[in-house]
Amino acid sequence: MYNEIDLDKIDISSEPPTEEPARQYYFMAKCREWVREFEKKNGRLPCFFTQTFGCQMNARDSEKLTGILEEIGYITANSEEADFVIYNTCTVRENANNKVWGRLGYLNTYKKQHPHMKIALCGCMMQEPEVIDKLKKSYRFVDLIFGTHNIYKFAELLFLCFSQEGTVIDIWKDTDKIVEELPIERKYSFKSGVNIMFGCNNFCSYCIVPYVRGRERSRKPEDIIREIEKLAADGVVEVMLLGQNVNSYGKNLENPMSFAQLLTKIEQVQGIQRIRFMTSHPKDLSDELIEVMGRSNKICKHLHLPLQSGSSRILKEMNRHYDKEQYLSLVEKIRRAVPDIALTTDIIVGFPGETEEDFEETMDVVKQVGYDSAFTFIYSKRTGTPAAMMEDQVPETVVKERFDRLLKEVQRKATERAQAFTGSVEKVLVEEINEQDETLVTGRLSNNFVVHFPGTSEMIGKIVSVKLKECKGFYFYGELESSV
Ligand code: 5AD
Ligand code: SF4
Repeated sequence: MYNEIDLDKIDISSEPPTEEPARQYYFMAKCREWVREFEKKNGRLPCFFTQTFGCQMNARDSEKLTGILEEIGYITANSEEADFVIYNTCTVRENANNKVWGRLGYLNTYKKQHPHMKIALCGCMMQEPEVIDKLKKSYRFVDLIFGTHNIYKFAELLFLCFSQEGTVIDIWKDTDKIVEELPIERKYSFKSGVNIMFGCNNFCSYCIVPYVRGRERSRKPEDIIREIEKLAADGVVEVMLLGQNVNSYGKNLENPMSFAQLLTKIEQVQGIQRIRFMTSHPKDLSDELIEVMGRSNKICKHLHLPLQSGSSRILKEMNRHYDKEQYLSLVEKIRRAVPDIALTTDIIVGFPGETEEDFEETMDVVKQVGYDSAFTFIYSKRTGTPAAMMEDQVPETVVKERFDRLLKEVQRKATERAQAFTGSVEKVLVEEINEQDETLVTGRLSNNFVVHFPGTSEMIGKIVSVKLKECKGFYFYGELESSV
């Protein structure tokens, strides 16, 4: 979402501008020249492949990378057998890193047969100094490395990468900068993520995010609204507001504004029919927000409220700033204000020092709340976080056994809750043709349940009424009642 700028009108013989985003458009124009030369030489346009690891924030960042690559003339490839491959990495748990190291091995083999190809890495994992050391030492075939704070500079870095030998590495420790109005290529025509803030100030003791994403920075409300208005004009009906902790939105703005106030403004944007947001920290969830959710007919009936642990002792060790009782009373308050709301959560099993009693507390919260779904994670030690230094790391076999028990309980409760919807007629936003069966489409309810039902591609992006006929645990089969 940006004001279309004609790159051909930019004078690339002069010095690059110093201000943003003009500087990046200048480098996009420079890169486009390079692309044209490639086309002349090879009789085809160069192609690119992006792979995103991790969260929705990264997915949105990848849309920015794609927007820039397409702006300069690259076309998409369906696999890593491409002229330019970029991995947007995640480092929240060790297995996210391992995936990247594994894929790089494969890329190296491919590059040996296609030496002209360029390989780039960006995202959270690149903010870790040990990762950069390892790349410099053993992965010298990587051409471009940058981090989370300077993604807006992608065009400039790409140009550097085209014009010099050796690896281009640009990692910033932190930033207070937010650059607006750069190209973005959306994955879906009818829904879009919208960043409302970047970074995190919470320093939960197990989490690496504050170290790799930097301090909290909120986008100005007028920039957010302008982006959403443009999205709506472009056919978007659902927005997902993104931030590590959306409930502390606006605290550091020149004119402070609460998240609830921002939501009220976004609700007024014509054409937007559904508003989602992610993620909410329980410690910052205000009564004002609950009230706004209760009376809104655009804000989806879904709240993702990470629990992490049900043990007050462990929550304290995690630096979460709430205890079991406070979490449970918050849930009660939300359910009272929004009775049909779906609640989902994140839970970590095996945090250092977690005893059987602590784990039972988590199980107890899961039983009491009855989540509609939950992401359950095995604790992963992240170098540099306080928890990594804690003694009493829980043995793997114990963690695995607890994890399995938790998963079973989560699934049992979630199925029970979903079953209750069988037979009801619900509004569904149709998202895509079903991957397994082309005669079906897949859509989502306001509460985030997924339903598959007979339909055609013309329905994609529309909100329709669907009867939920059969519950399959965490999804439904349904039948179209009527178009809305
Ligand atoms: N180990 C396991 N899970 C983690 N998360 C964050 N850090 C870790 C870690 N070190 C989980 C939390 C968070 C989600 C995005 O990832 O549950 O809410
Ligand atoms: Fe990590 Fe806690 Fe920040 Fe979430 S709120 S990103 S878990 S530090």
